[in-house]
Amino acid sequence: MIGPVLGIETTCDETSAAVLDSRGAIASLVIHSQDVHRLHGGVVPELAARDHLRRIEPVVDAALREAEIDRLDLQAVAVAAGPGLVGALLVGVAWSRATAYALDVPLVPVHHMEGHLFGPVLENPDAVPPFVALLVSGGHTMLTWVPEWGRYFLLGQTRDDAAGEAFDKVGKLLGLSYPGGPAVEAAAAGGDPRRYAFPRPLAAASGKPGAPGRFDFSFSGLKTAVVRAVNRLEGDAAPTDNSAGLSGERAHMAASFQEAAVDVLARKTLDAVDAVGCRRVLIGGGVSANRAIRARILDGLGPRGRLFAGSPRVSMDNGAMIARAGQFRLELGDFGGMNEAAASAPLPGMVPWEPSPRPN
Ligand code: KG4
Ligand code: ZN
Repeated sequence: MIGPVLGIETTCDETSAAVLDSRGAIASLVIHSQDVHRLHGGVVPELAARDHLRRIEPVVDAALREAEIDRLDLQAVAVAAGPGLVGALLVGVAWSRATAYALDVPLVPVHHMEGHLFGPVLENPDAVPPFVALLVSGGHTMLTWVPEWGRYFLLGQTRDDAAGEAFDKVGKLLGLSYPGGPAVEAAAAGGDPRRYAFPRPLAAASGKPGAPGRFDFSFSGLKTAVVRAVNRLEGDAAPTDNSAGLSGERAHMAASFQEAAVDVLARKTLDAVDAVGCRRVLIGGGVSANRAIRARILDGLGPRGRLFAGSPRVSMDNGAMIARAGQFRLELGDFGGMNEAAASAPLPGMVPWEPSPRPN
């Protein structure tokens, strides 16, 4: 592989830089998670872009120091070129373009979701295709069959909210801290997941070959069900009664919501495993940190299956996964058309999945 490679990630609210060596191992990884958004309970695009601009140089300097290499030794610069917030993306792309030009090394624009596919292999050399990949983040929810790197068959994706977005919105509704995912998981630990019967949107189609939306997800109806349940509780509670209303039900509501979301995500992933006939699963993106999702998929796969999931630093947005996908693209000599910063862009090499006809 070509190395050392610098990987830059600025698609959303993490400014990250990493150096990978020529074996694809992490020599350094620095992640600055922006906290300017906490006050607003969600990412503010303009603030994100400004903070990337302020942080990118110090973050890269720290990554080079940690890797103990000189900027002049870099052999390529890989950058997440999309999808993402356009102002945020432009900071990373413009910075990387200028740096690659100055160093006279290749600039490798990488699709952010291809980066997430390369997260787990940074820690586990076995995390290579073939596998069914469930990518679940704040902006995306995607189920893909990956027979080899660079060949991606889209099984399904979300029709409305992303899984992480649903966790974040429910967290906000329940008065938990931002981002909602980890807070909802923590609150759920003390709750009864059966207290509220929240809907499992599109779950019924999962087991039915040929059914429309079989592997698609939808989280907005689930979120609305939580809104209704919260409104009902708040309407019922007397203003002076602190034990009633939301506070007494928060943990149960978090647990019941998480149960519904995990149920649909795991069920569809396991049905995809059966449909493609491969018992190897990779989960990536911030939501893959959720222990309930990991446990449910592992349980369903049984002893003959394998689940690949990275630690939080390679699952959340980070420069190392971008550098690793960049090394793959450099070797392939094909950047998949990711030439400019793009707020939305298809995953290079991805086509819809068609079930193979069964032999008679
Ligand atoms: O991949 P990521 O770091 O950034 C995006 O590309 O969006 O994912 C962030 C998302 C947030 O929505 C966050 O709430 C969610 O991942 N998340 C979790 C957990 N940890 C982070 N969701 C559920 N359970 C968690 N433990
Ligand atoms: Zn991401």
